[in-house]
Amino acid sequence: MTGTIQTPGAGDATGAGAGGGPSAPRRQASKFDMSGWLDGRVAFVTGAGSGIGADIARRMAHAGAAVAVVDRNGDAAAATAASIEAGGGRSCAVVADLSVASERRFALDEAVSKLGNVDVLVNNAADHGTRHDFLEVDDEEWDRVLATNLTATAMLCQAVAASMAQRRNESGVIINLAAIQVSLPLPTYVSYAATKGGIVSLTKALAVELGPLGIRVNAVAPGAVASGSTRVAMATAGNPDGASPTLLGRMGTGDDVASVCVFLASQAASFVTGAVVVVDGGRSLSRQADPLSDLSRPRPHRSSGG
Ligand SMILES: NC(=O)c1ccc[n+]([C@@H]2O[C@H](COP(=O)([O-])OP(=O)(O)OC[C@H]3O[C@@H](n4cnc5c(N)ncnc54)[C@H](O)[C@@H]3O)[C@@H](O)[C@H]2O)c1
Repeated sequence: MTGTIQTPGAGDATGAGAGGGPSAPRRQASKFDMSGWLDGRVAFVTGAGSGIGADIARRMAHAGAAVAVVDRNGDAAAATAASIEAGGGRSCAVVADLSVASERRFALDEAVSKLGNVDVLVNNAADHGTRHDFLEVDDEEWDRVLATNLTATAMLCQAVAASMAQRRNESGVIINLAAIQVSLPLPTYVSYAATKGGIVSLTKALAVELGPLGIRVNAVAPGAVASGSTRVAMATAGNPDGASPTLLGRMGTGDDVASVCVFLASQAASFVTGAVVVVDGGRSLSRQADPLSDLSRPRPHRSSGG
């Protein structure tokens, strides 16, 4: 393991403009060199076409893993895979809507045929819901959010665990993306928050059942990260700079989350299972209101009255 602190490169989110208002100090995220931590491993990262998932995929590739970049957005998946290969890594793009069982099976078969058996599964893809008041959430939306966030996560865990158990000496790892909304829910995210709570329970239950098979299962719970979907939500809330109050004076970046995922996937975390690692810059302890919790802001309403 090495521990060189590098200056963030072009394209890194640095948290500029974030954290505690205009007078707050501007602090930059640092990029920790984890090259070699995942040498020889194969990672399957869902929702890796954009946002945090793309950063996890690139971080894992930089750490030495061959990475299957799985996303329903084909162009985005191809772009992430291309950026990994341009950096000398090994990757393949897999296009699949993971809310559909047959497409999950296809995605896994495709990744295994191109890169080999999956050692590290990262369930990152998520449907954030459409930010309706709970009284307007209908069955279709509820089922859609559950299908991507919870059902796909559970069924992918099951699919890789079967193969990991047969290769237990190679220590399989599963990382599920939760969110601090499990304990700090925001209004209009009810279906999303419910799935993230389910992911925390799923993670702990699977750690219990799969630990004896040599498989570690952990969750990572980010606070607000300046990814695509959160930027849109912040802009809608009249806060385009994405200032979410943290104790560290800046908003989170995808790489803040990605480096924790590399740690959990690596042998450095070989005795860590059933954990929920909060990556929120202390947001959960901050007493400042979140801009996204302002119920007076306009938000979408169903025309049908649902
Ligand atoms: N961004 C944040 O502030 C934040 C905070 C807490 C937790 N998280 C969690 O981190 C993870 C990544 O969040 P993000 O903000 O980068 O998300 P994002 O919306 O920016 O990106 C999600 C990616 O998943 C893909 N995707 C969505 N549904 C899919 C499906 N059914 N099949 C295949 N691909 C699908 C999308 O195409 C997209 O590329 C999520 O699990 C999210 O809940 C994010």
